Amino acid sequence: MSRLLANKVALITGASSGIGQATVRRFAREGATVIALARRRERLEELAREYPGVTPFACDVTDHAALEQCVRQAVTPHGRIDVLVNNAGFSYYQRHTDSTLEQWRQTMAVNLEAYYVLAQLVVPHMIRQRYGRIVNVSSTQALASEPLVGAYAASKGGINAWSRTLAVDLAEYGILVNVVAPGCIHTEMSTIHGVDETTTPDFQEWYVRRRKIPLARPGQPEEVANAILFLSGDQCTYITGHTLVVDGGLTITF
Ligand SMILES: NC(=O)c1ccc[n+]([C@@H]2O[C@H](COP(=O)([O-])OP(=O)(O)OC[C@H]3O[C@@H](n4cnc5c(N)ncnc54)[C@H](OP(=O)(O)O)[C@@H]3O)[C@@H](O)[C@H]2O)c1
Repeated sequence: MSRLLANKVALITGASSGIGQATVRRFAREGATVIALARRRERLEELAREYPGVTPFACDVTDHAALEQCVRQAVTPHGRIDVLVNNAGFSYYQRHTDSTLEQWRQTMAVNLEAYYVLAQLVVPHMIRQRYGRIVNVSSTQALASEPLVGAYAASKGGINAWSRTLAVDLAEYGILVNVVAPGCIHTEMSTIHGVDETTTPDFQEWYVRRRKIPLARPGQPEEVANAILFLSGDQCTYITGHTLVVDGGLTITF
């Protein structure tokens, strides 16, 4: 059986855990050569031992010189880069009145600015190839609101709006740009102040028993990776500027 990403070169950020890690594994199994970027080098090296097609690149996404080096390292041996998955992200939980401008700026630097910088770096290669797929991971926090996550929600809303414009800008070069917006996914990010949010009585009552999430469970990272895979491959040919919500129905309910 032919593999969905055979001969493709992909760069995936936030690759050391959760959605990014699941995406690296999924892409590698589909035959892609993957450059896996995150700060925790040992996690990336584990992935590389698991899948020979994976090359680790350890850096902080706010280090733009390192991002430049990463893209160069990805393109040089293969002569191309087909897929960029911008996925690295973080959140902090604070009321607006207690939050600081520094927290806001750090959130934008990781969740939004780094996405832009990486797109700047890969797009010239994609234009040369007349082929590319960019998948930006945002969040349902960009579509509906909760308290304490203002900067995060703003950064994710920025991803959605920017991605639509980027899709228009790059369409003539055969580059498709889409967004995956996960809802509540069971990853390290769902542990807040040391508590796995998906196991709390409140979560179980509201999201599961009362079905605020109609599918009545948190999602798994692999379920988001499948959506990213679809938007990253040759089976995606007539979809661009789209936000694909992967949330078990969370945002369709009151
Ligand atoms: N889990 C959810 O419920 C959920 C819902 C909606 C959206 N999302 C989004 O999905 C994406 C992945 O999150 P996740 O749930 O998989 O969380 P996660 O397990 O905490 O993964 C976050 C990834 O981002 C990397 N990262 C964070 N800051 C970084 C930095 N400054 N430089 C480089 N890498 C950095 C982390 O690696 P290192 O620490 O090794 O650098 C890690 O690999 C994020 O954009 C998140 O906003 C998640």
